[in-house]
Amino acid sequence: MTAAQSLADATAGAPPAPLVELAEVTKHYRGSGLLGRADAPVQAVSGVSLTVAAGQTVGIVGESGCGKSTLGRLVIGLERPTEGEVRLRGTDRAAMTRAQRRAARYEIQMMFQDPYAALNPRMTLARIIEEPLRARGSSSRPARRARVRQLAEEVGLAASQLDRYPRELSGGQRQRVGLARALATSPALVVADEPVSALDVSVRSQILNLMAQLQAEHQLAYLMVSHDLTVIHYFADHIAVMYLGQIVESGEPGVLFRSPAHHYTSALISAVPEPSAAGGRARAAIRGELPSATAPPSGCRFRTRCPAAQALCAEQEPPLRAFGPGHQAACHFPLTEAVPA
Ligand SMILES: Nc1ncnc2c1ncn2[C@@H]1O[C@H](COP(=O)(O)OP(=O)(O)OP(=O)(O)O)[C@@H](O)[C@H]1O
Ligand code: SF4
Ligand SMILES: [Mg+2]
Repeated sequence: MTAAQSLADATAGAPPAPLVELAEVTKHYRGSGLLGRADAPVQAVSGVSLTVAAGQTVGIVGESGCGKSTLGRLVIGLERPTEGEVRLRGTDRAAMTRAQRRAARYEIQMMFQDPYAALNPRMTLARIIEEPLRARGSSSRPARRARVRQLAEEVGLAASQLDRYPRELSGGQRQRVGLARALATSPALVVADEPVSALDVSVRSQILNLMAQLQAEHQLAYLMVSHDLTVIHYFADHIAVMYLGQIVESGEPGVLFRSPAHHYTSALISAVPEPSAAGGRARAAIRGELPSATAPPSGCRFRTRCPAAQALCAEQEPPLRAFGPGHQAACHFPLTEAVPA
């Protein structure tokens, strides 16, 4: 039985559920933990709802520390939510049987920012790519070898390179290995955390093109995390903009770029270097520092940096409202008209 079948069986008969669904997910880290913070918890992710459909690319964008990687780790199951549910094909991760958890491990794979740190330096590329197949233990050695060669070809690595070690490769080649390894178990979703930000600009588009090509061939979905709106704009079908642990706006890239509703999205777009990306409209840049995730501002979390903030913004948290099909934003005084409720 394939991993996908095992998960799908749990929901047989029901209408197809989205591949991944986050329902009001919150993740707090204990304050006196790893980072030596005081007692207040770090509110890394707060009340996030998000859907990733099969074959879709959802981009998560926002400044450093806004909770993007935590969200990715929640989806892949490396973190458990403090509140809310992370559902895979309709099944809450917390309620999964052992067999379902095992299936989920192969259905969702991860691509990291720094492939060098993620690849075992003492293993050959062949062994690195083969490892998830060995862990699954469902195929013979010759079958695994054949699959490794096939994967190498798919990501543009020569068979002669398979006996090499990660240190012998360029950054782009290492990311190709990371991609081959991620694809080894034929996942339905790859969580890609800043997959090209450590690469030279000239290599970035090669890797992004390869990711897009593999997506089309394998009906893959991506959850792409990036602080770089240009990458996300190019790559995603749907963008979620995060600020201090919350999704403040989401929608199609074209809509968000042309007519953002939230002042933070607008400021992020204005920070994009290409003049054309700003659409010729004057927008305010982001001023001031990101507040601490242990004590986010009351009301709208962006209010301490927002050029349009008013008294209400400190008093009430703005709810997410619809601004068009698939377009939502949380702002009391948006830049565009909300759809009447
Ligand atoms: N294990 C942890 N323990 C305590 N706090 C954490 C832990 N992991 C993340 N945090 C905190 O949670 C918040 C969100 O972190 P996260 O790494 O998800 O942000 P990010 O958007 O991925 O940032 P970057 O762009 O720098 O990678 C930050 O304030 C961070 O310091
Ligand atoms: S709710 Fe207020 S502070 Fe927040 S983005 Fe909108 S105008 Fe700015
Ligand atoms: Mg991160």
